[in-house]
Amino acid sequence: MAKKFYVTTPIYYPNDKLHIGHAYTTILADYISRYKKMQGYETMFVTGADEHGQKIQEKAIKSNEEPINFVSKMSKSFQKLWTELGIENDIFLRTTNKLHIKYVQDSFSNLMEEGFIYKSKYTGLYCKSDEAFYTESQLKNGKCPDCGKEVVNVSEDSYFLKISQFKEWIKKELSTTNLLIPEYRVKELINNFINELQDLSITRTSFDWGIQIKEDEKHVIYVWLDALQNYITALKMPESKFTIDEVWNKNSDVELLQLVGKEIIRFHCIYWPIVLKIKGFRMPKILAHGWLVNKEGEKMSKSKGDVINPIDIINLYGRDSLRFYLINNISTGEDGKFSEGLLIETINGILVNKYSNLVARTDSMIRKYNDGIVPFKKINIEHYEEIKNDLYKIRDSYEQHMNNYEFSHSTKDIIKYTELINGLIDKTEPWKKEGEELNSILNILINEIYNITILLSPILIDTSKNVFNWLDTNQDVLFENIGKDFKGTKLNNIKHLFNRLEIK
Ligand code: MSP
Repeated sequence: MAKKFYVTTPIYYPNDKLHIGHAYTTILADYISRYKKMQGYETMFVTGADEHGQKIQEKAIKSNEEPINFVSKMSKSFQKLWTELGIENDIFLRTTNKLHIKYVQDSFSNLMEEGFIYKSKYTGLYCKSDEAFYTESQLKNGKCPDCGKEVVNVSEDSYFLKISQFKEWIKKELSTTNLLIPEYRVKELINNFINELQDLSITRTSFDWGIQIKEDEKHVIYVWLDALQNYITALKMPESKFTIDEVWNKNSDVELLQLVGKEIIRFHCIYWPIVLKIKGFRMPKILAHGWLVNKEGEKMSKSKGDVINPIDIINLYGRDSLRFYLINNISTGEDGKFSEGLLIETINGILVNKYSNLVARTDSMIRKYNDGIVPFKKINIEHYEEIKNDLYKIRDSYEQHMNNYEFSHSTKDIIKYTELINGLIDKTEPWKKEGEELNSILNILINEIYNITILLSPILIDTSKNVFNWLDTNQDVLFENIGKDFKGTKLNNIKHLFNRLEIK
């Protein structure tokens, strides 16, 4: 039976258009999901829209629209963006979906029956932008420590989830398992949030755009408790490939990865595991990535007016270039920059110089020396024998980096591999060779381009298709096919994969 892999992104707030920061999270999820497919896994990839809450309701009112019409329109635009970026998600979960709503309501009732919920009054600080509660000491200069915006005083009746009793448990879970990666984020989470862990206010009464609880119609469920459960309810959708039990039961052997930006670790690594624990479910594995930041090193965001629309970038440079840049140039886990200048440097320095040129040089040699037909390999080529071991090692290192979700390291392996093959052309100087020696070198080049393209295929989704078409192969793109021989194929025509660009 095929191994199974379940991957999720946060579900995005449809209060505004998505920008390149959101695209980053989703592209990483798409990369790992496609990689796992290539490794023979059956995969399921969930993304979606977090459609309830005060922020969304206020935005809809401002736009003179009913909230449901407003979020429907926005969510449609999200789905369109994902299609344009080549994202292969299986489910797009909207929290206004009936199945989701029912599950969240029932889940509230169950928690209530089991004694995990009590009614009281919440008096404290709230950041509407992050939909998050804060204590006085958590503020930074009197403002929200995460987004820097004003917080408001809230005082209203609320139901509370008894999470403070799990303080020691969650501390231990975080410190002794790999619930949160990278590991260095654990300490700051414990210091900033867990040491002061209080019961969580899980209903609001001052607005009504949310999931009403059955027990008390004035209350809607706190948007984070609503949204987090999407990772469960996605599995209730008719298109779901896996079942809730399969993924979330304690003995599940489905590999699971949840990607989040670093500012929402708190919700995913405290509240979410505690909810799962209460439900008797397994623990998640959360991979926290950094932000795309502006020149000042601040998170790129709509409110600062410095966001970049991914559609503008892919219209100019193509989606493969953007996907490659974000995976390769932002160290997974750390903050990173994006600018058109940096993107062009990457396109020229790596995609053109190293990959596209290798294909173009090989194509023109095979046309010139062998009428466009891939020759057989008859003899060993000394320079190739010298690097073979290194190539195996790089391939294994790539696999290890991917299995550890070290995405930005994985591309460095592919680059190294490509450099060795370019070096092989320089060392063997095929244009000075003839007969079996020349043919064998050309055959090696084709085989190695095939291997490199397999490694690049979960990132360069269009380019890899071009290259496989050039090689006239419709072999399944599987990791295990690396090293399978090409003989006697007639090359199809191929255009330049990437063109050198001028830095503006
Ligand atoms: N709706 C919540 C998530 C609920 S999940 C149960 C939310 N939505 S969001 O739209 O504000 O952000 C979603 C994701 O986008 C987060 O992982 C966040 O880190 C990511 N990004 C938003 N801006 C970003 C950057 N500038 N850079 C990188 N990622 C960024 O939070």
